[in-house]
Amino acid sequence: MNLSLNTGAGNLVHIYVGSSVFASLHDFLEPFIHAKEKIFILVDENTSDFCLPVLLSQTGDLRNAEVMRTNAGEKNKSLETAGWIWNSLAERGATRHSLLINLGGGVITDLGGFVASIYKRGIPFVHIPTTLLAMTDASVGGKTGINLGKIKNQLGTFHNPEAIFIHTGFLETLDMETILDGLAEVLKMALVADKDLWDELSLLTFTGLTGIPFRDETWVKLVNRCISLKCGIVEKDFRDTGTREILNFGHTVGHAFESLSMQNGMNSMSHGRAVALGMICESQLSFMKTGLKASERDFIVRMILSVYRHYKLEENDLSFLTECMDQDKKQSVQGTRFPLLESPGKAVAGVICNSSEVLESIDFYRNLQP
Ligand SMILES: NC(=O)c1ccc[n+]([C@@H]2O[C@H](COP(=O)([O-])OP(=O)(O)OC[C@H]3O[C@@H](n4cnc5c(N)ncnc54)[C@H](O)[C@@H]3O)[C@@H](O)[C@H]2O)c1
Repeated sequence: MNLSLNTGAGNLVHIYVGSSVFASLHDFLEPFIHAKEKIFILVDENTSDFCLPVLLSQTGDLRNAEVMRTNAGEKNKSLETAGWIWNSLAERGATRHSLLINLGGGVITDLGGFVASIYKRGIPFVHIPTTLLAMTDASVGGKTGINLGKIKNQLGTFHNPEAIFIHTGFLETLDMETILDGLAEVLKMALVADKDLWDELSLLTFTGLTGIPFRDETWVKLVNRCISLKCGIVEKDFRDTGTREILNFGHTVGHAFESLSMQNGMNSMSHGRAVALGMICESQLSFMKTGLKASERDFIVRMILSVYRHYKLEENDLSFLTECMDQDKKQSVQGTRFPLLESPGKAVAGVICNSSEVLESIDFYRNLQP
C-alpha cells in the first residue's frame, strides 16, 4: 500500500506499508547506489539485534552501508548521542548527499530525523519504524527532536524524511508493554478522528487484535489507516499551531500520571498506559465541556480499562498532578488548553479548562472501580 503526506511547497513524502515494502526500498535506494553515495543506518542495540539482520537480508543494496549503533531508550534521545552521531558522520566522510536510514522506534526516528535535518544543513533521510508507536505516529508528520536534560523534545525541527518504509513483521519481536504503548496512540487516533475505526476496535477487542499475526493484512490495514488519519491532520497544520493539537488528546493528564508514577518509583507507568488513563480523565472533561454523552464516556472507560490497569491515586497525589499540569506548555491564565471530544471520532482543539474542572475529572477517575 502506498500513501503520501503532502505538506505543501512540493514537499511530498511517500509512505510504503506492507508486503512489497522492501521492493519499494530497493527502487528508492537505486539512485544513491548508482551515484556511489554513502549510506548510513542508525540503530539502537535492540533494533541492531532484531531488525537490522532482516533489513540486510531483504535488501542486498545495503551490504556496504555503515551502521551507527546507539544504546536503547528515551535517555539516549539526547544532545550527547546526537553529538556522537554528528561526529561519527563527519569522521566517516558523510557528505550533503549521503543518506541516513533510521531503523527503530520513536526514539531513533526522532533522534535520527533531528541529526539529519541539522547535519550540513540537512541531508536526505528515511525512516523504517519498528514499533507500533513509530509506525502509526512518530515516523509520520515531520517532527524531529531530542530532549534537553529532563525536558522532552526541547530541541527539534520540522523536517520530513524522503520516504517511510513500514514492515509490520518487525512488531513480532516487541514485548507486550511496547505494543500497548503503540495501541494507546491507535485508540487515540480513532477517538479523535475516526468513529468507524473506534467501532471496529471495540468489536475486535484487544485480545482479538493481539492474537492476529503481525504480518497479517489486518495489521497492515490498521497501520495504514492510522497513517492516513495522521496525514490528514498534519496536512492541515504542519507546524502545529492549531488543529494538529487534537493529536494530544489524553496526553496532558497522561504526562502528569507518568511523572507521578516516576516520582513514586518502583513500577513507573509506561507512556501508553499513562496516555490511556489520561484519556479517561479527558473523556470526563469532554462530557463536562464539549458534549460527549455519558454513555459514550462510559464505553471509552470500559474499553480502556479492559486493556490498561487502573493506577490507584492517593489523596495527596492530586496536588502533584495539578502542579505538573500547571507547568504544562498548554497552560494559560484562564486554565489549561485541552483537545476534547465532541463524540467518538470527532475532536475539537483548544478548550480551556480551569483547575477545579480538571480536579473533577481526576476525581471521576479515582472513583472508578479498578
Ligand atoms: N515525532 C513525533 O511526532 C512523535 C510522536 C509520538 C512519539 N514520539 C516519540 O517517540 C518516542 C517513543 O517511541 P517508542 O515507543 O517507539 O520507543 P523506543 O524507540 O524507545 O522503542 C521502545 C523499545 O523497543 C525497542 N525496539 C524497537 N523496535 C523493536 C523491535 N522491532 N523488536 C524489539 N525491540 C524493539 C527499542 O530498542 C526500545 O527499547 C518518544 O521519544 C516520543 O517522544 C514522537
